[in-house]
Order: sequence, then C-alpha cells, then structure tokens
Amino acid sequence: MTAKLINGAEIALQIREEIKQEIIRLKATHNVVPGLATVLLGSDPGSLSYISGKEKTAKELGFYSERIDLPEATSQKDLLAIVDKLNKNQKIHGILVQEPLPKHINANEVNSAIDPKKDVDVFHPVNVGRLMTGDADLLPCTPAGIQQLLIRSGVKIDGAEVVVVGRSNIVGKPIANILLQKNKGANATVTLCHTHTLDVAFHTRYADILIVAAGRPKYITADMVKEGAVVIDVGVNQIGTSKSGKRILVGDVDFENVKEKASMITPVPGGVGPMTITMLMLNTLKAAKLAAGLTA
Ligand code: GUN
Repeated sequence: MTAKLINGAEIALQIREEIKQEIIRLKATHNVVPGLATVLLGSDPGSLSYISGKEKTAKELGFYSERIDLPEATSQKDLLAIVDKLNKNQKIHGILVQEPLPKHINANEVNSAIDPKKDVDVFHPVNVGRLMTGDADLLPCTPAGIQQLLIRSGVKIDGAEVVVVGRSNIVGKPIANILLQKNKGANATVTLCHTHTLDVAFHTRYADILIVAAGRPKYITADMVKEGAVVIDVGVNQIGTSKSGKRILVGDVDFENVKEKASMITPVPGGVGPMTITMLMLNTLKAAKLAAGLTA
C-alpha cells in the first residue's frame, strides 16, 4: 500500500479561510476584532522565525496584533509586569510568550501569570486541568492541529487504537488526553509510549493511528507500523544543510519506507507544522468570542 498524503498546508489554509470569514462576521455583528500579543525575549533565530510567522498570519487573517520584543536579560519581575499589562488590555484576547525562555526566567511562573482566558497556548495549569477533565474551552495548538488533520482527512477516531510516542507536556500528554475524551473526534483507546517503555514496537505495531513526537530522526521504521495505519509525524529534526544552505529536515518517521505500509501519512515539512500557527489563530478567535459573551 502507498499511503495517501495528509496535506497539512492545504488543511491549514482551509481553516485560515474559515477564521478570516468569522473575523469579518464578528467585526460586523459585534464590533469585536480579536487581538493577539506575542512576547519574545532575545533574538534566537528559530524563535524569531516562529514569532514573525505568527505575526504575519495574524495580520493576514484580520487580527489586531501586538509584538513585544524584549532584551534577553529582561528580569522575571519586568516580564511578569508586561504579562499583567496584557492581561488588563481589552484589545488583547490572546497572549503568547515564546519559548524556550532564557535560563534565568521561571517559565512555569510566567505561564501561571497569564489570564487563563487569554492563555491561547493552553499552558496555564488551570487550562491543563480542564483539558484533562474534558471541559476546556481552548485546546493546545499542536495537539488540536493533529486532531483536525485526522477529522478533516476522514479518519475514524472513535474506538481506534491510538498509540502516541513521546510524553512531552506540549504534544504527547495533551494529544493523548484530547483523543481519549468522551467527545466527537475522540473516544479512542490511547496508549502513551516514552523513553522508558520497554518495547515501543510492541505497542506501535497495533496502532490504527500512530502519533510520533519523540524528537528522534526517522525513529519509527516500517517494521514498527501496522499495514494500513494512519501515521502522524510531529518531529522536525535538522539532519544537515544542503549545498545551497537550506536546512535539511526529517521527521521522527522513516517516511520513504513507512509510506509503503501506512494508509495515510503526514509529510515533514508540510504536515503537522502548518497547523500549529493556524490553531493559535483559532484559539485567539475563540478567546475573543468568549470574552464578548458569545459561544466559541
Ligand atoms: N516555541 C515553540 N513552539 C511554541 C509554542 O507553541 N508556544 C510557545 N509559547 N512557544 C513555542
């Protein structure tokens, strides 16, 4: 079997168009313009590129957008004061503090200082708790993007054996939680594998849906995948640089061989990646609607 490609770029574009239309409607009916603030400490090239992408997309879709660039040496106290100001700013419905933060910053304290209603990353402990109990208003961006890729590709999640590889707070744990909820687009049986799992292949081989966020290039080989499985590759690993200076990226899945066994698979790049910023925009729109007393 040669797998059908799940085109994240195309699905992200569809959702962005839906967001754009909803923003026009929201402005016309309630005079509300959703606002996103991004905060960056320092000038790490990867973070700068992420932040620029977020700002550009926000503007393209009709959001109000504020970008706050701070020196790397900004103190915890000053950063918390900026977060507090954004919490009180009525034009801002979503706040994102770009990670990784410099070592002298306590990221947990920063995430806990963001108003949970403006926590579009879904990193605040209250929102993480709501995610677990199944009554979250907002879903974390990368996991929500994965769920949308599955739903919009017509994958049956209800009753499926889902195996997640990787237990990070940003992908593995939340996607496991989202897909096991008693909800539409969920109701799966979920297994979560990690670095101390004794036999990862034993688990991955019975997955109907295999989600890999292990941070290890080409870790999942064809012999670890069931014939006809749906494979979602969250990995982005730079394995070198081309002669023209372009970064060579591969996922956590041995794409060339696994695509001959899977029924559907996400490419890297162009699979999960484009969905993350899109879901951030969707969260900001939802947060603005909830703040206006509307249902998200
Ligand atoms: N750094 C890389 N991805 C993310 C993300 O989704 N949110 C934040 N805040 N920082 C990041």
